[in-house]
Amino acid sequence: MELRTFGQSGVQVPIIGMGTWQTLDVRGEAAEANARSIVDAALDAGANFFDSSPMYGQAERVLGKTLDGRRDKAFVATKVWASTTDEGRKQIANALRYYGNRVDLYQIHNLLAWRDQLMQLEQLKADGRVGIIRATHYSPSAFDELSRVMKTGRIQAIQVPYNPLEREVEQHILPLAADLNLGVVVMRPFGEGRLMRNPPSAADLLPLKPFSINTWAQALLKWILSDPRCHVAIPATSKASRMTENAVVQAPWFGDDQRKLVAKLASR
Ligand SMILES: NC(=O)c1ccc[n+]([C@@H]2O[C@H](COP(=O)([O-])OP(=O)(O)OC[C@H]3O[C@@H](n4cnc5c(N)ncnc54)[C@H](OP(=O)(O)O)[C@@H]3O)[C@@H](O)[C@H]2O)c1
Repeated sequence: MELRTFGQSGVQVPIIGMGTWQTLDVRGEAAEANARSIVDAALDAGANFFDSSPMYGQAERVLGKTLDGRRDKAFVATKVWASTTDEGRKQIANALRYYGNRVDLYQIHNLLAWRDQLMQLEQLKADGRVGIIRATHYSPSAFDELSRVMKTGRIQAIQVPYNPLEREVEQHILPLAADLNLGVVVMRPFGEGRLMRNPPSAADLLPLKPFSINTWAQALLKWILSDPRCHVAIPATSKASRMTENAVVQAPWFGDDQRKLVAKLASR
């Protein structure tokens, strides 16, 4: 698994990680065993960057359980999603309990009460219980505010949506992140699954064979990671075999022609 330097933090992160929204929001023995198998596949492939949030129901807890006994093998990125300091404090206490008293990357989810939450996270960073602080928003309508937070100099990374059908970050957010040397995590690489509903045929993907592309999922991930301003993409899946498939993306990276082809196939 290729590693990239995560902006000014200097931390090395794998280019493929794993989202947990919906896929790890599960209860019960069988479902949790399946969650464990997906996490096993991610760890086996070196895709050990895990993204969660208290917004994702059971996902934070289930992720913590699957990492029990091997927490040191994972890079955990979770979020605080609370409108008050008190509520944020409770969420953070839960996460520290799930993840062995340390969260490698703490994010302010959807910029909710970001001034208050940022103060708490800065304190935890000073105590060594949080590694990197990041802000995230899924909606372009919030990108002006996200830019303002980025310019405060108080966050070291962002998480944003980016795929061939959601390219708004190309206008201001990615150039600003590069100027400020911030880590960039890409959510929704498959457009929440929308891009996978009508995948191109094997024949359509043939020109991408020299780039070690065997599946449409790999083409989409390579499209994202061929932009060097993006450091890690976090596809989510409920199937261990797909985690393995997603994690094999590596150099050589696409040039303009291949990126244009993938964008064309995505918008059919
Ligand atoms: N959506 C948001 O607004 C949002 C916001 C903040 C953060 N995030 C973070 O970003 C992560 C990723 O985004 P996302 O979960 O919205 O969606 P996504 O990763 O773009 O797409 C997930 C969908 O793709 C399918 N999939 C995964 N690998 C596949 C493969 N190899 N072949 C075919 N289908 C495949 C999954 O279906 P199967 O389960 O059937 O494989 C699932 O339906 C989230 O889990 C979360 O951690 C998302």
